[in-house]
Amino acid sequence: MPNSLTVRDNRTGKEYEIPVENGYYIKAADLKQIKAPGLDAGIVSYDPGLMQTASVKSRITFIDGDKGILRYRGYPIDEIAEKKNYMETAYLVVNGEFPTKSQYDEWVHNITYHTLVHENLKNFMMGFRYDAHPMGMMVATLGALSTYYPEAKLVSDAQVRMQQIFRLIGKIPTIAAFSYRHSTGWPYVDPSNDIGYVENFLTMMFKPSFSTRYEPDPVLVKALDVLFILHADHEQNCSANAMRSVGSSRPDPYSCAAAATAALYGPLHGGANEEVIRMLKEIGSVDKVPALIQEVKAGKRRLMGFGHRVYKNYDPRAKIIKKMADQVFQVTGRNPLLDIALELERIALSDDYFISRKLYPNVDFYSGLIYQSMGFPSDIFPVLFAIPRMSGWLAQWQEGVTDPEQKIVRPAQVYLGSDLRHVP
Ligand code: ACO
Repeated sequence: MPNSLTVRDNRTGKEYEIPVENGYYIKAADLKQIKAPGLDAGIVSYDPGLMQTASVKSRITFIDGDKGILRYRGYPIDEIAEKKNYMETAYLVVNGEFPTKSQYDEWVHNITYHTLVHENLKNFMMGFRYDAHPMGMMVATLGALSTYYPEAKLVSDAQVRMQQIFRLIGKIPTIAAFSYRHSTGWPYVDPSNDIGYVENFLTMMFKPSFSTRYEPDPVLVKALDVLFILHADHEQNCSANAMRSVGSSRPDPYSCAAAATAALYGPLHGGANEEVIRMLKEIGSVDKVPALIQEVKAGKRRLMGFGHRVYKNYDPRAKIIKKMADQVFQVTGRNPLLDIALELERIALSDDYFISRKLYPNVDFYSGLIYQSMGFPSDIFPVLFAIPRMSGWLAQWQEGVTDPEQKIVRPAQVYLGSDLRHVP
């Protein structure tokens, strides 16, 4: 059986042979031979949202949305979350394998010793308005980092690339914590080299002042570490696509990371967990849940934290988070919004509107409840997503800039504007 498609153009009667690679993809460039009448350029496939278009070849993350499977470098997400920590996971995502003991120590050392930011960058951040959204501050500050490391534009140099990977993974929690403290007016707390990545972040966030002692609860450190693992990568999502797309014109990775963070900011992507809490607060009590479901079914609004472009089954990350919520609530006290969330899930999962559209809770549905119980204000939620996603973005970026097949991303369009006309 030939591994190809025979495409017959019924307008001309001509037939074309299009090879099918690996049993499931065709090269869009092969469509070029099918000429559109009156046009030299071949036909194109129209795919807003790139839903059925593979824009890259990748070896990082595998998702089977129908079965609810997520794997980093071949390892199932639930096994990683159970047996590894975020630093090991970031190494895996970026480098392809889990680290040996000495590789791990070196990786953690290099990231830890890059957590500090230039004093000048603090002044830059202090220039934001007192009520600036932390994600807006993140976008701008990551972009500003580009000006501190001019050598970072040498993206073909593996050593230079790795240096920026350490810096970006190291500095993002520091910038994230500063973006929060800016809104509270508290002094920025510098990172410390003798505590772990997550502990360090929590300390920079919540330590009241330089002199006060602060030790985060180990259960909360562990919970946030697992949340970081779950958010490390998710193949070609909107922000990873932004990272790769900007990276394809070969600027430094700080500029790419600023673009990826901007993509993550939107309520349909990383901003959704913030919207979930807003929605749960607005519902207010369990008895008001059916009314909200009616509004959703009438198409007046969306059920935030539900639905996913890829998962047409329960998001495997949401399952892990839901289980972890109990451990967190034992330390923080039960989040009163949890009952509303559980009732929403119960009704939605038995309602034909959601069943027929395969709408299940996604990663954001329960993560916001945990973050809120841990004391994070809701506008910092997307920032909590950006911190661990930095490792995924960098892995995607590195894979893109080292792929000999990768060209500058420049999609085609279907032009619907005026034909030639002349200026009167
Ligand atoms: N509530 C109600 N209806 C929904 C929802 C929802 N959350 N999501 C999708 N639908 C409906 C749509 O109205 C549409 O119905 P129709 O066929 O009758 O028109 C159908 O389901 C398909 O929806 P699309 O928008 O075509 O699905 P798409 O794959 O483009 O969107 C998305 C995925 C953006 C995540 C969507 O489900 C959504 O808006 N969810 C809410 C926001 C959210 O939780 N985002 C977080 C995603 S996870 C992440 O980024 C980490």
